[in-house]
Formats: sequence, C-alpha cells, structure tokens
Amino acid sequence: MTIAMDCTMPKNPLPIIMIGAGGIVNDAHLPAYKIAGFWVAGIYDPDREKALQTAKKFDIPLVYYNMEDMLSRSPRNVVFDVAVPGSEILNVLEQLPKGAVVLMQKPMGTDYAMAKAILEWTRSREMTAGVNFQLRYAPYVNAARDLIRQGLIGEICDIEINVNVLTPWHLWKFLYDTPRVEIVYHSIHYLDLVRSFLGNPEGIYAKTVQHPGSPGLASVRTSMILDYGDKIRANILTNHNHDFGLRHQHSYIKLEGTLGAIKIKMGSLINYPYGVPDSFEYLIVEKGQAPSWKTLDLSGSWFPHAFIGTMAQMMLAAEGSIPRPGNSVEDCIYTMACVEAAYTSSANGGVKLPV
Ligand SMILES: NC(=O)c1ccc[n+]([C@@H]2O[C@H](COP(=O)([O-])OP(=O)(O)OC[C@H]3O[C@@H](n4cnc5c(N)ncnc54)[C@H](O)[C@@H]3O)[C@@H](O)[C@H]2O)c1
Repeated sequence: MTIAMDCTMPKNPLPIIMIGAGGIVNDAHLPAYKIAGFWVAGIYDPDREKALQTAKKFDIPLVYYNMEDMLSRSPRNVVFDVAVPGSEILNVLEQLPKGAVVLMQKPMGTDYAMAKAILEWTRSREMTAGVNFQLRYAPYVNAARDLIRQGLIGEICDIEINVNVLTPWHLWKFLYDTPRVEIVYHSIHYLDLVRSFLGNPEGIYAKTVQHPGSPGLASVRTSMILDYGDKIRANILTNHNHDFGLRHQHSYIKLEGTLGAIKIKMGSLINYPYGVPDSFEYLIVEKGQAPSWKTLDLSGSWFPHAFIGTMAQMMLAAEGSIPRPGNSVEDCIYTMACVEAAYTSSANGGVKLPV
C-alpha cells in the first residue's frame, strides 16, 4: 500500500511577485518556494528595508519602489503573492491588473463583509484568485486525504482538532488592536480543514473566550461544534494559554471513519516557536484482529511545506490543468462564512436553562 503525501505540481511554474516582506514571507512562503523550485522574480513592501533584506536572503533579483514600479517591471504571466495584513488585501487587489493570478494570505479580509467585497472584486476583474489556507495541503493532511480516497478508513464520521498549547500572542502586535483574534487568525485553518474533508456544515455552535493571562486581547480560546447533521461529529477545541510546561501540551487532528482512524500530531504548535516532531498514526480495522496502529514516516510539515500546495494550486489553474484552485476565493468564502457564524453563535450565547 502506498500513501501519497506530496502535492500535485504544475507542469509550467509561473514566476512569483511577492507583495509583502513580513514574518510569514520570510519564515514560510520563500523557504517553501525554494524547496519547490518556484522562482520569485521580484518583491515589494512599503517598508523598503525589509524588502531589501528579504531579497538578499532569498536571492530575489528585483526590489520595487512602489506598486506602479512593480507593475511596470514585472513579467507578464506571474502569480502575485499578496502576504499583507487582511485589512490591506482589498487595497492591494484594486491595484492589480484585470485577469491577474493572485494568491492572498489568510484571512480573506478581516470579516465576512470584507471577504464578500474581495470575492466581488476578483470576480469583476476576472482574476484567478486563491487564499493561503495551506493546512489543507500539509503533507500529513495530503496523506490523510489519500488514505480516505483509497477507502481504507471508510466513511468519515468523526473529526476532532484539539490544541492545548502556549501561544506567544505578544509576538503579533497587530492582534492587540483587533476585535477578533483566535478564530479569525488561528482556528480559521481548522474550519477550512474540516470543510476540505466534509464540505460546508449546516451551522456552527461556538463559544470563544478571553484569558486572564492575555490582557488586552480579544478572545483567545475557542470551542466549536460544526453541525453536519445527526451522524457526524466535528469539533474544534483550542486553548492557547496552557502555561503549565510541556508535559500536557498537545495539538492533534483526529479523523475516525467506519473502517479505521488517523491521528496526526501537529508538532509545530507545541513548545512554540521551537516545535516538536509531527507524527502520523493510522489504523485500518482488520476483522478478527486486535486494533493495531501503524506509523507513517512524514516528509515535510505544515510550515513551510504546505505553502507549496497553495501556490501550486494557483499555477495549476493558471496553466489550465485544473478548472480553478482548490483554495479559490469561491471556495474560501465559505471558510469566512464559518468564521462569521462562529462569532455570531458565541455572541448569542447558549440555550438558556428552562427554569
Ligand atoms: N497562513 C498562515 O499560516 C499564516 C501565518 C502567519 C501569518 N499569516 C497572515 O499573513 C499576514 C501577514 O502576517 P505577517 O506575520 O507576515 O505580518 P508582518 O507584520 O510581519 O508583515 C506584514 C508586511 O506587510 C507589509 N504591508 C502592509 N501593507 C502593505 C501593502 N499595502 N503592500 C505591500 N506590503 C504591505 C508590511 O510592511 C509588512 O512588512 C497576516 O494577515 C497573517 O494573518 C498567515
């Protein structure tokens, strides 16, 4: 039995123009593109010093002075890789040419209203546009998808994502000025992941709360139930304030089917930012045999390797190998709708006691 964990790659990779030279570009986009052999032709950031440093580190030949300069000195067929804060995405998209191929960082705008405006703009400008929800292309997720595709664990009836870690929120200063933190910046990946396995839920029950150890931040811990009817359980549980050492930190995706199960440890969130190794265990029920878990050796992780997948989808769509990227704005708008539903559910509160 073989289990595939690599992404489908384009036959004719396009050059990439990087817009934004911040933390995630340096830590994940550019290392991933180097691994994939994708060529980054130029970079722009209003903070020119950052752009220059990034260009030097990753051998990027052109550093643009502004957007006009970028457009006048870019090759014609490129992927614009927009890695700016969610609040800035629409502003950048409005300056890109009609028909552009664009990958934008998540979130797709800061809320659902902005996500809809982004969707409308990309439609009206006939762009091939996608969102960097890369967890769905992480090697361990690709492997899970391949096991499911082969029918080896049967029909999926239970998904749980459970994260109990210590996240140093203070590293992201912009979070202190925003009314929404955990779901829109973190659990959004898990909402997108569950959707990528099960499609859109009928609704969402959620409660997201602050923590005394994170003063100045909106809610940072979340419990969500995605409603897929009466036969499927899909839960997302996150506690980012487990400040009690490493012993009980955990971070996993668990998928259960009618014929087997998969448990993936997402090591990068544990002991952040150092991380611990990922792991991938799976069990295929064999009649008359005691359950026996097997381990799959992984190659690559959520950061940075999964970033190859989101970019590869853009290039595959641009060359006509697939009708639209799996992570297209047309699809990802529903992840943003899930985020909105979760915040609304949390604000509305639970069912009151009947007394
Ligand atoms: N997919 C993921 O797993 C993941 C992980 C981390 C961050 N992110 C997202 O990536 C985005 C950026 O995060 P970061 O950590 O790199 O932030 P950062 O603050 O380190 O970098 C953002 C950069 O964008 C630049 N910028 C702002 N407006 C711009 C504009 N109009 N044109 C060009 N550049 C502009 C800033 O100068 C800055 O250098 C955020 O929205 C964040 O949610 C995604």
